[in-house]
Amino acid sequence: MKNTPSNESWLARLKKSEVSDATYIPATHPIVMEKAYGDFIYDVTGKQYLDFCGGFGALSFGHAPEFVQTLFEAYSVGNHKNPPPILHGLGDLYPSTAKILLEELLLRALPPRFSRVSLAVTGAQAAETALKTALLYTGGSVFLAFKGAYHGVDFGALRVTESSFFKQGFESWCSSSGTGLSHWLPLNCNIDDIKEIIWASQQKTARKLAGIIIEPVQGRAGIHIAQPAWLHNLVSLAKENDLPLIFDEIYCGMGRTGRITYADEFEADIVCFGKALGAGMPISAVVGTEKVMAAWPPNTGEARHTGTFFGHPLSASCAVNVLKRISQPNFMEHILTLGNNFHAGLVAVAKKAPHSVTVRGKGLMQGIDFGSSGKGATAMDKLREKAVIGLAAGETGECIMFTPSFTTTQKHVELVIKALEEIIAQV
Ligand SMILES: Cc1ncc(COP(=O)(O)O)c(C=O)c1O
Repeated sequence: MKNTPSNESWLARLKKSEVSDATYIPATHPIVMEKAYGDFIYDVTGKQYLDFCGGFGALSFGHAPEFVQTLFEAYSVGNHKNPPPILHGLGDLYPSTAKILLEELLLRALPPRFSRVSLAVTGAQAAETALKTALLYTGGSVFLAFKGAYHGVDFGALRVTESSFFKQGFESWCSSSGTGLSHWLPLNCNIDDIKEIIWASQQKTARKLAGIIIEPVQGRAGIHIAQPAWLHNLVSLAKENDLPLIFDEIYCGMGRTGRITYADEFEADIVCFGKALGAGMPISAVVGTEKVMAAWPPNTGEARHTGTFFGHPLSASCAVNVLKRISQPNFMEHILTLGNNFHAGLVAVAKKAPHSVTVRGKGLMQGIDFGSSGKGATAMDKLREKAVIGLAAGETGECIMFTPSFTTTQKHVELVIKALEEIIAQV
């Protein structure tokens, strides 16, 4: 009989090679993923899991969907007479057609006031491009960001990510309090508090504000939604003071919450996308208005902001396919309908809980908040035993969030609800 290596034996190997911080290894029921298709992941023993985390929201069309396969196939054959598409274009020097097509399509999918795109690879890189744009545009040095914000943990993005956890050991870079290079206010705060910070930053000796960065729906913090009226006020304040307003829609954008962007309703100046844009391939994008993006100088031979893999052709081609799919008529309605059903199912489960449990979410970005520290993580351990994967989230691990593929089904939604029903009394 074939001796299949266990998840534990693979993890023992990982522990020997990897830096200790990189991978969380749960005490019970650890998984090492090997294969996947559609909404399902298979671990090294062949056990199947329903994936409702979806690559942290990146797998907009599930695992190995048809269109990614088509692309891979195009790359996997060829010779000098019939060469395959270019795998690595010299993005900032000799652009690829894939990159140009993506930028065109992205702008076509967005409100017309957005006219410029800057591509990158990861979400944090997109956030950093946006921050740099705002710094160039205003000449300021400090941002207004919101409590619970997660914009990535690269060295620039870390300054506007709130959680002190991610800053431990790096406070000297983020200032001694770990928050000193940004102003922090609660999401949906009193709008006068924002006015106060803007006013204070305009005084002669103060550090000038460079912009405002916000997730219209906070993801990692446990799905907290900016209220529409409040967001409209924020837009007005940013406009009145000529402060670039950055929407970080890396988690909530590109269809995840049933819309391509919140900037179709709220006039942000810069929007960041990532995750779902690439359907599992790494790519991110920043779009901005002509006015703000003109802060970048013309390229006379050297890009001031660049990266080896920016605008990677294979990732860009995936993103083109994603945009084509999500721009089809009724696609957003499909996400909203499925999301509403999911939400209703979660609310029904929450009512059966022995203590207060709340549900928050839009579209296929749904969260269940168990109300106290660590309970989301406990619930996730139990869900994993039921062969369902979500993501523990929230400031203190109080939630589980679900970001399944856009192609998931009502049947899969019901499987998750059933698994939650079975564990809810034990959390
Ligand atoms: C809203 C938001 N911004 C930025 C990031 C950082 O993206 P990445 O992990 O691709 O750097 C994330 C990641 O979860 C995110 O949720």
